[in-house]
Amino acid sequence: MADELTPETPEEEQPKKTHKQRKNGLYPGVSDELAESMRSGWADTELHGLEPIAQAAHTAARRAALSARFPGERLVIPAGRLKTRSNDTEYPFRASTEYAYLTGDQTENGVLVLEPTGETGHTATVYLLPRSNRENGEFWLSGQGELWVGRRHSLTEAEQLLGIPAKDVRELPEALTEAEGPVRNVRGHDPVIESALTDKVTKERDEELRVYLSEARAVKDDFEIGELQKAVDSTVRGFEDVVKVLDKAEATSERYIEGTFFLRARVEGNDIGYGSICAAGPHACTLHWVRNDGDVRSGDLLLLDAGVETHSLYTADVTRTLPINGTYTDIQRKIYDAVYESQEAGIAAVKPGAKFRDFHDASQHVLAEKLVEWGLLEGPVERVLELGLQRRWTLHGTGHMLGMDVHDCAAARTEAYVDGTLEPGMCLTVEPGLYFQADDLTVPEEYRGIGVRIEDDILVTEDGNRNLSAGLPRTSVEVEAWMARLKG
Ligand code: GLY
Ligand code: MN
Ligand code: MN
Repeated sequence: MADELTPETPEEEQPKKTHKQRKNGLYPGVSDELAESMRSGWADTELHGLEPIAQAAHTAARRAALSARFPGERLVIPAGRLKTRSNDTEYPFRASTEYAYLTGDQTENGVLVLEPTGETGHTATVYLLPRSNRENGEFWLSGQGELWVGRRHSLTEAEQLLGIPAKDVRELPEALTEAEGPVRNVRGHDPVIESALTDKVTKERDEELRVYLSEARAVKDDFEIGELQKAVDSTVRGFEDVVKVLDKAEATSERYIEGTFFLRARVEGNDIGYGSICAAGPHACTLHWVRNDGDVRSGDLLLLDAGVETHSLYTADVTRTLPINGTYTDIQRKIYDAVYESQEAGIAAVKPGAKFRDFHDASQHVLAEKLVEWGLLEGPVERVLELGLQRRWTLHGTGHMLGMDVHDCAAARTEAYVDGTLEPGMCLTVEPGLYFQADDLTVPEEYRGIGVRIEDDILVTEDGNRNLSAGLPRTSVEVEAWMARLKG
């Protein structure tokens, strides 16, 4: 649906212009009488006495920690803007993780600014688009007008909900241009803000802010853990939905699986947290198979890697590899059980005080043992691991931090992440796999075209870990029983 009164509207589709309408230079095709009519007759819908959002206390604590890390500096954290898909259509908007983490807000064009109050401390302001003005016509004549995009919160409402003073974002570029003193900005989200700050920021200093915000998210607070569990619980239901429609997928394609999972994600959450990998048969060996346009065949495996993102933007990241007809063949089971054993070893290595790399090493060790045992690699296992020979078939790392981003904390320094130590409150995936490409001549034919991954979302606790995705079965026998139950 196009904005019917913009100049792009073909001449013949515009209402006939009267003399008065031609006088109205601002909005061609709008008579003074219509403009006058649209100014008034609208009810006052201001909301009063709003309760703060559930995470308001948590976002305040996060802003306080950020303030303590960068005393005396102005910090600018944008939500981002709509991105054009084609002409006047845009991609669905998803607020930047940094902005949503610090405010709990998700509206496009929003910007959080922490203004230094002296040598220590900051005042936070969230800059937002206010309600549309009805006097000047922007309400119905501008592309961002509420008539087109829906009602926004007023600045007063936003203040109550977020617990942060709110101002009109249209005033921000000029205020930033005029501001004195050191500034840092989270780059990559808002070109308008970046151009206002271009002479005041440096890439290195902005990167320090991004790195801080990535590392700050490593340990999750109670609210975040609750959201991750919600994301996983919806994901479990999405996997159940898929099992129930495998016959329909066989009659169509992998797209049926993608669409089925997406329905659950949109109904219970905000979205999917990443492109669902719905990989039947040999597609399982393509790690980022998101085309999802292949056949689904009885006798093959389905590798489904998918996660629901909650309304507060926390995502699950879960993989199960299922026999499409409900029963693993002998060779499928042999490979599946090896990956399961590897995952068990990985999960057991997730505990406070362990190195982040430990669970990867534990999982890889088991896979290397299996590959030697099956005669695909020559031992000893330690030599295989030293040379990394197992990687022809294990292909990827065994896991990553999980949170608002599926690959969370990605800007963290190596010493704080990959070379770091696990702490209670961290959440990570454990996801070993074995992938035998269809054209791999170095393995017996029966292995070719089989790919298996098992991926769970593991919370580090005070005394070990908790598998947030334990609601889905993991052993081959349990998977078969679960599928039989769901298929009825
Ligand atoms: N779904 C992406 C990953 O497992 O890392
Ligand atoms: Mn995954
Ligand atoms: Mn993952």
